[in-house]
Amino acid sequence: MQLPLTGMGTFGSDKYDENTVAQAVKLALESGYRLFDCASVYGNERNIGEVFDDAFRKGTVARRDIFVMSKVWNDMHGPGQVIKSCQKSIEDLKVGYLDVYFVHWPFPNYHAKGCDGNSRNADSKPFFTEDFMAVWRQMEYLKREGLVREIAVSNMTVAKLKEVLPLCEIKPFAIETELHPTFQQKELYDFCKKQGMQIIGYCPLGSPNRPERDRTDHDISDTQTEVITGIAQEKNCNPAEICLAWAVKKGHIPIPFASKRQNIVGNLSVPERIILSDDDMRRLDGLDCGNRLIKGQVFLWKGTDDWRDLWDEDGVVAEWTKKNDIWVKKER
Ligand SMILES: NC(=O)c1ccc[n+]([C@@H]2O[C@H](COP(=O)([O-])OP(=O)(O)OC[C@H]3O[C@@H](n4cnc5c(N)ncnc54)[C@H](OP(=O)(O)O)[C@@H]3O)[C@@H](O)[C@H]2O)c1
Repeated sequence: MQLPLTGMGTFGSDKYDENTVAQAVKLALESGYRLFDCASVYGNERNIGEVFDDAFRKGTVARRDIFVMSKVWNDMHGPGQVIKSCQKSIEDLKVGYLDVYFVHWPFPNYHAKGCDGNSRNADSKPFFTEDFMAVWRQMEYLKREGLVREIAVSNMTVAKLKEVLPLCEIKPFAIETELHPTFQQKELYDFCKKQGMQIIGYCPLGSPNRPERDRTDHDISDTQTEVITGIAQEKNCNPAEICLAWAVKKGHIPIPFASKRQNIVGNLSVPERIILSDDDMRRLDGLDCGNRLIKGQVFLWKGTDDWRDLWDEDGVVAEWTKKNDIWVKKER
């Protein structure tokens, strides 16, 4: 399946309400977007479904002309729940089938809507391969039954992929992961490319309006770096557009969200409007500094307060055992 060069995100970041996001999707459809990144947890699939339905009825687009992606949220990983959640997304979005369905996060840990960075769920647990595979078996069922065209993963690491890929009967078609010039995840990127996975980059502009829980004092804003503002000045465009041009030239699919008409329209035409030279790309590649914005600390379990434990930074999936209600990491 060949996806468009750029898609549209639909996460309201706890700031844009459902109707604002649906209105943005309507503008995006009318402007020519054909790829939409949805998720049940964004709480707006019903509103977006109204927009799709209206567009199909009016003939603005046909169902087969657009690519609609959604994701199973972490609280629906149990037996039969992935299938139920997928059916609900299909129904809410009024699309009949999904083009790509993702496992949103590789563990069943979830947070309350609008929570702050210190929020924790008492049931949260570390990643276990067998838990993930139980979810993946349901994903495989969805593809076999034709409810979805492709199944995919999100927020995975090389270490986790190395554990699960040999066990998959149907390999993930794609990975959706955070990608922007100051956070390029080179090892994961190269690994997924080698596996033939389509790479979809979230927060491609550095998510300037992300929720408060995803902000720390050390975060770097891509669009305010000298390199990006400098190249934007040379090309007479805005810095966000340089991030998108970088993503497209790298070969992954950025899925920016925008609510303003000028941003929606402008972002889509970046691939034909902004051509980066090899030297521009070298300067942008040089910005990579591990600036992870979505650290995921709200998904941590009792026994750690270090978000790096979510991302297998020492290259392997750690072993955890539960002692007196606390998870303890096995020393290596
Ligand atoms: N799989 C996952 O776990 C995961 C996690 C996070 C995000 N995502 C997906 O990735 C999508 C994108 O991430 P995101 O929404 O967090 O961040 P983003 O796309 O990096 O940034 C969106 C923000 O940038 C602004 N913007 C858009 N185009 C612009 C332009 N040309 N110039 C200046 N500002 C511009 C928008 O403002 P205006 O509203 O003012 O236009 C919007 O607030 C999400 O919507 C979601 O679909 C997935």
